[in-house]
Amino acid sequence: MGDPSALFSLAGKVAVVTGAARGIGASIAERFATQGALAILADRTPNVEATARQIAASGGRTDWLAFDVTDSAAVDAAAAEVLRRHSRIDILVANAGMSYELPAIEHTDQAWRSVMSVNLDGVFYCVRAFAKPMLAARAGTIVATSSIAGVKAVRPELHVGYDVSKAAVAHLCRMLGVEWAKAGVRVNAIGPGYTDTDTLAEVGKSRPEVMNTWLGDIPAGRLMSRTEIANTVAFLVSDAASGITGQLVLVDGGYSAA
Ligand SMILES: NC(=O)c1ccc[n+]([C@@H]2O[C@H](COP(=O)([O-])OP(=O)(O)OC[C@H]3O[C@@H](n4cnc5c(N)ncnc54)[C@H](O)[C@@H]3O)[C@@H](O)[C@H]2O)c1
Repeated sequence: MGDPSALFSLAGKVAVVTGAARGIGASIAERFATQGALAILADRTPNVEATARQIAASGGRTDWLAFDVTDSAAVDAAAAEVLRRHSRIDILVANAGMSYELPAIEHTDQAWRSVMSVNLDGVFYCVRAFAKPMLAARAGTIVATSSIAGVKAVRPELHVGYDVSKAAVAHLCRMLGVEWAKAGVRVNAIGPGYTDTDTLAEVGKSRPEVMNTWLGDIPAGRLMSRTEIANTVAFLVSDAASGITGQLVLVDGGYSAA
């Protein structure tokens, strides 16, 4: 059987993570770099360079790219640039996403389009562009970030466009996991529960009653840490998960099970 810990190694892999300037994406990139991958941090904000430098300063190998996932030509160009610089792409985490709060009836066309454009179109454009070299090499793994909001009517906050976009991301991964199952490319979705990010810390300060509703509904009684999400993504893209494709893996402290 050999050394089972080798199955979890990402040594020598070239891994692209979108939405990596901060939050969950930055933690995923950091975890990849810690496990031996070259982590390429991508984000629309140029701050992504500083995040990449921070991770590199603690010993990881990083690179960075600034592009907007809603611009399919820019996404195609970014995939070509990664190939030009590093000759291969082994891992993609399509994580860039946006959220907001709005009752359903108050969604303008523009509000609906903007969330679909980042959370669904952006994920599809990235998966399509970065899967091409993987399919040609008959090897690669993709994870896209969905959410508990894609499987359950979360409360008390209202953002139906976000919820539907995240359900669609999970189904996209199911469909592509099956379509590419014999082509050597695995596709899964990660579904974070309420996670300890700056955005949620802000809610805890400004609206403690909302935070208390969330904490009361999470069987574990706490937010997930960004590291817990990153650990699961690192497992999903590793050879230890070679039999897992087309799945949505929820990391939510039991929220969706209750
Ligand atoms: N924080 C949570 O509790 C939670 C729970 C479930 C799912 N998620 C999902 O996890 C992912 C990361 O969440 P987070 O809390 O770290 O968010 P965040 O807002 O802290 O970070 C998101 C990053 O994505 C980037 N981004 C946004 N739009 C982009 C675009 N068009 N092109 C390129 N980059 C873009 C932002 O610049 C930012 O750096 C998102 O998809 C989010 O929906 C988060």
